[in-house]
Parts: sequence; C-alpha cells; structure tokens
Amino acid sequence: MAIFSILLLLCCGLCVASAGIPLPGLGDGAADELFPEILRDEAVARLYELGRISDADSYLERTFLSPAFNRASTQVREWMEDAGLRTWMDQMGNVHGRVDGANTSEAALLIGSHIDTVIDAGFYDGSLGVISAIAAVKAMKNSVSLDDVRRPVEIIAFSDEEGVRFQSTFLGSSAIAGTLPVSALQVSDKSGTTLHDVLKANSMEATEESLMQVKYDPSSVWGYVEVHIEQGPVLEALGYPLGVVKGIAGQTRLKVTVSGSQGHAGTVPMSMRQDPMTASAELILALETLCKEPAKFLTRTSQCDAPVGDSLDGLVCTVGELSPWPGASNVIPGKVVFTVDVRAMDDGDREAVIFEFSNQMRRICDLRSVLCTVEPKHSAGVVRCDPDLSSELDWAARTAARKIAGSTAQLRLPVLMSGAGHDAMAISHLTKVGMLFVRCRGGVSHSPEEFVHEDDVWAAGLSIMNLLQSL
Ligand code: GLV
Ligand code: MN
Ligand code: MN
Repeated sequence: MAIFSILLLLCCGLCVASAGIPLPGLGDGAADELFPEILRDEAVARLYELGRISDADSYLERTFLSPAFNRASTQVREWMEDAGLRTWMDQMGNVHGRVDGANTSEAALLIGSHIDTVIDAGFYDGSLGVISAIAAVKAMKNSVSLDDVRRPVEIIAFSDEEGVRFQSTFLGSSAIAGTLPVSALQVSDKSGTTLHDVLKANSMEATEESLMQVKYDPSSVWGYVEVHIEQGPVLEALGYPLGVVKGIAGQTRLKVTVSGSQGHAGTVPMSMRQDPMTASAELILALETLCKEPAKFLTRTSQCDAPVGDSLDGLVCTVGELSPWPGASNVIPGKVVFTVDVRAMDDGDREAVIFEFSNQMRRICDLRSVLCTVEPKHSAGVVRCDPDLSSELDWAARTAARKIAGSTAQLRLPVLMSGAGHDAMAISHLTKVGMLFVRCRGGVSHSPEEFVHEDDVWAAGLSIMNLLQSL
C-alpha cells in the first residue's frame, strides 16, 4: 500500500511498457565495448575515494570551501584532466573541466552535479553525477578522439548544493546562472564568518565584478544535464536502474527564531515561564499536522477552485536543525533557532502552506508570550525539465540499460518527479535542463547507508557517453 501510494504520488505520467529490468548480469561478449573498467570499476573506486575526503574523522562532511572541500576539488580536477579536459576553478569554488571539440564557437553542453555534502553523508549524492560524467568523457577519449565532439562539453562540479554552511543553497550553480545577488556575500555561517570572508580566505575576489565573471552568457550554453541518485524508493520498487526526471519540486527554507525568558530550571514555576523550547515544540508539531492534513487548514490551493484533498502533491515539511541557547539541562533556554524546509510540486500549494504556518505561528507565539521571527533563507519554484532533452536522455539511458543487461527488449523508463532539490533548479534560469535518476538501495539518501549498485553506476556513465556520442 505504501509503495502503491508512493508510485501514485511520484510517477506522474509514468510510462513503463515492460516488466522491470533485473540487476544486469553481463554474460555476452559485448562487455568490452561498454567500458566497464572506466564506467564501472574506476568510477566506483573514485566514488569511494571521494567519499573518504571529509572534514570529520568518522563520517562524511564536506561543506562549501572547507579544507576537505578543497582537497576534493583538487582531486576532481586531476580526474577531469586525466579524462582530457581543460580545468579551472571559478570565483565561487565551482570546478570546471571542458573540451571544445570540433566547433569551439558552438553553444556548450554543461553536465554537472555537486561535490559538497550534508553532515554524515553518503558517497553518491552529487558525487555520482560528477564522477559518472568524467568517466563518460574518459571512455569517449579512449574510443574516439575528443577533438571530434560536435559541440563543447563542460563538466561542472558545483561548490554548494546542500546549503549546509550558509543555509542558502545553490551558491555555485546560481552564481553561474547569474541569479546569486551580491548581497549573498554578506551571509554568515554559524561561526559568524561571511561568504565574502570565506571566498577571500580562499584567494577569491568576492566582489560584484567577480560574481559577474562567474555568470555564463545564456547564448554560450546549449543545455544542462545532471545525473543524480534518486534518493527515493521508486526505481528500486519498479526494478529499473534509471529513470527520467520530469520536474523538480519547489522548496522554501526558513530560519525561525523563538525568543523567551532565560531562567533557572529549578526555580521558575511552570505557570510563569516564557519557554522558547516548548513553544518551538508546539510550532514544529503544528507544521507537521498542517503538512499531513492540509485539507483541515487550507480551503483553496493555487489550482484555483479545486478543494484541497487529503494531501497536496509532493507536500513535505521538515525541521532538520534546532539549536537552543544556551543549551544546558538546568537552564530554561532564552532562545531557540530552528529550520523549516517545505516542498511541493505546486508553488501555490507551497506558498499557501507557508502562509498558514505563519498564521499559526503568530497565534502560538502570542499565547505563549514568546517572540517569534522568521527569516527566509531560500526559495525556489518548481522546475520542469525540457521535453526534448528528456527524450534524448531517455534514449541514451534506455540504450545503456539494455546493453548492460544484454537485453534486446524495448523498454520505456519510468518518468519521475524529484522531491529533492538539485543544481538543475538553479541552472534552469540559464538554459534548458534534463536529469536522469539512478536507482539507490532502499531509497535511502542523506545517510551513510546510501548505496548504488556498481552496475547502476556503470549504466549512468554509459548513458552520458551515449548522449555525448549523439550530440
Ligand atoms: C538537496 O539534497 C535537497 O535538500 O533537496
Ligand atoms: Mn544532491
Ligand atoms: Mn543532498
């Protein structure tokens, strides 16, 4: 039942004409043409190598321009050069590798994903898209000359998709798209260091002019493609290694600050407290109830007159971070700060939820005599992938999956909406975008348990290689 509802929710326009592909077993002589050493064995080894580059000793953490991030970008540049690409790092920490091919003046195909991570991350989120693209170019170099590529191809390892350090996600990709405002240079991380200072400490300019240099001219770009782990259970449930992404949910991130009256845990009577922790607890539960049962609170959605049903398409709400101050067991906190992350497949639905949450917040905070403030941290509308680019990706991925499975069956791949955010959202302001999802075990992501079967890594790389050959 749970899987059934997930499929209904996510597989908009799902078109699957045949039974799922089993995990591929090779067994035919065609394997040599499919570059398993580069696209599977080396790519998997590199995913593990990159996954070990961390700022923490016992788990993976690699945030924007941290020491581990800088080691990872040096490593990625080496791999790009090994694949025959000319490399550089831009003024927002993005790593680029480019081959101009036969027609240097043609608009370029960009292929990318991110190399920053969440805290206690898995090895595939972001890295898979970068490493499979490098593997595809390297396999191309070993089969045909890169000089023959018909348009420039540029791989970009973006510097910040997760938004962990500054909470404003897509720093790297939105700078390239030209949508990062110069005011972003003044945002601070938890230690109070601004983005401006972090860039300067890494020998970058951090000025309006340097931001302008990072921005791409839309006429120089043909399109953008991203391979990413699905981070959900649908492909695994259907038995497919790859799926085509139809669109990406919009998202809002907020920072909520609840200020009360700091005091002694043993002496202030319960009736005399202005406790921001219990107020936060009530706010968080109110948000959960609102997102589980929107029909109880919202009468109309943006889809005009349609009454709100039991659930809104793809609506999910999360509080993932909460910090009390000063944070001791015998102190009633003076202040609690927590994050809110709201996503939906319809921008109007998302806005309606945020509006209702703000109303409930006012009521709860008044009743509890605490002061609540909300700071918007990030907002991105729903993104629709380009239908033509999606068809090309569908063909490239179908061909890859079929060849690796040694099958001649004509399959059609699942078409999915993405609940997770991706650099493709930011790049959609620059050019048309298309995405491929790769099956992951148990649908688990943002966790060290994240896992992609090595043959699915292979299928991802071979898909990009097919796409490059069809340019
Ligand atoms: C990125 O991983 C996101 O938060 O969706
Ligand atoms: Mn990601
Ligand atoms: Mn992620």
